[in-house]
Amino acid sequence: MKALILSGGKGTRLRPLTHTGAKQLVPVANKPILWYGIEAIVAAGITDIGIIISPETGKEIQAKTGNGDRFGAKITYILQDRPLGLAHAVKVAQPFLENSPFIMYLGDNLIQDSLDIFLAEFAKEHLDALILLRTVSNPTAFGVAKVDEKGRVLQLVEKPKNPPSNLALVGIYFFSSAIHGAIASIQPSARGELEITDAIQSLIDREKPVEALQLQGWWLDTGKKDDLLEANRIILDTCLQIAVDGQVDAQSQVSGRVQIGANSKIINSTIRGPVIIGNDCHIENCFIGPYTSIADRVTLIEADIEHSVILQDAKVTGIHQRIVDSAIGQRAKLEIAPPRPKALRLLIGDDSHIELV
Ligand code: TTP
Repeated sequence: MKALILSGGKGTRLRPLTHTGAKQLVPVANKPILWYGIEAIVAAGITDIGIIISPETGKEIQAKTGNGDRFGAKITYILQDRPLGLAHAVKVAQPFLENSPFIMYLGDNLIQDSLDIFLAEFAKEHLDALILLRTVSNPTAFGVAKVDEKGRVLQLVEKPKNPPSNLALVGIYFFSSAIHGAIASIQPSARGELEITDAIQSLIDREKPVEALQLQGWWLDTGKKDDLLEANRIILDTCLQIAVDGQVDAQSQVSGRVQIGANSKIINSTIRGPVIIGNDCHIENCFIGPYTSIADRVTLIEADIEHSVILQDAKVTGIHQRIVDSAIGQRAKLEIAPPRPKALRLLIGDDSHIELV
């Protein structure tokens, strides 16, 4: 069994965070989203992993993630020249996958369930495809499945106007080598992509064994800001261990589950967990509230922040309003301007979203 993680794509929905970096490297509780997928795959006993990368962000993913040693895996990087669809990515990866069965894992998805039960079902039933489903309230935004009472998949539709059910396809699939023939038989969709739903539908039409299982735990597609914050909240709630390596001065108060990385300094501040703070941060005269992740080398002075994700090297100084539900990108600066005639003076990047009151 091999694994194929899709970590190419455009990442338009997380812009501007993803103008300069790969969306799969955006951290959740200070760990790149992609790494949670790698760890889940290795935990299920699969160590031969291919990762699809794009020309724009591939080098960064490769440099950060490495050859797999840190995960106990062997990682092969596979370049997809253009994001021409999930099934196109499988096609590009065929020389790596050969005739092996494999898990296909979208690099921006996070699930709570471990993969073992699904793998066991896939092997036991000799399936050509096993898909995972989760009920959602807005099925028109997803690939949607219609299943019979035994879990056999009858029909799959990508972002349907009239959804046949409220069961969305989670971004984790199990395939036999039969998927390659199915992909060879399909044409690009109206949006110009080779759709994996069309390839699976072609297996169903040829009466190949395709089944679906429903996820029990949570599922997050971290491609959007609110999902990213929700993933951050859940991971901090469930996985964070107390560990204070940095320095906390006598005027500061740290309560709840809090991690503070090496060489970080907390001065005259209140940190109320769950909160994770990376290495080499400077935090002075601040309140850092629950569900906040602060990456390495962040400077926060006179700031009041909660339920937010701050990426590395960002700087927030002198903001006397509470910052909530926010994502602040790498090297971003948020500060109060020196007194001048009242006016907004802004340098706002493409696709930014700023709410002023
Ligand atoms: P999507 O979220 O469907 O697409 P995207 O990355 O282009 O994102 P956006 O909608 O924000 O523009 O992709 C799901 C995952 O699959 C994601 O990790 C990117 C990856 N992917 C590829 O590797 N190759 C592809 O051709 C496509 C479409 C996606």
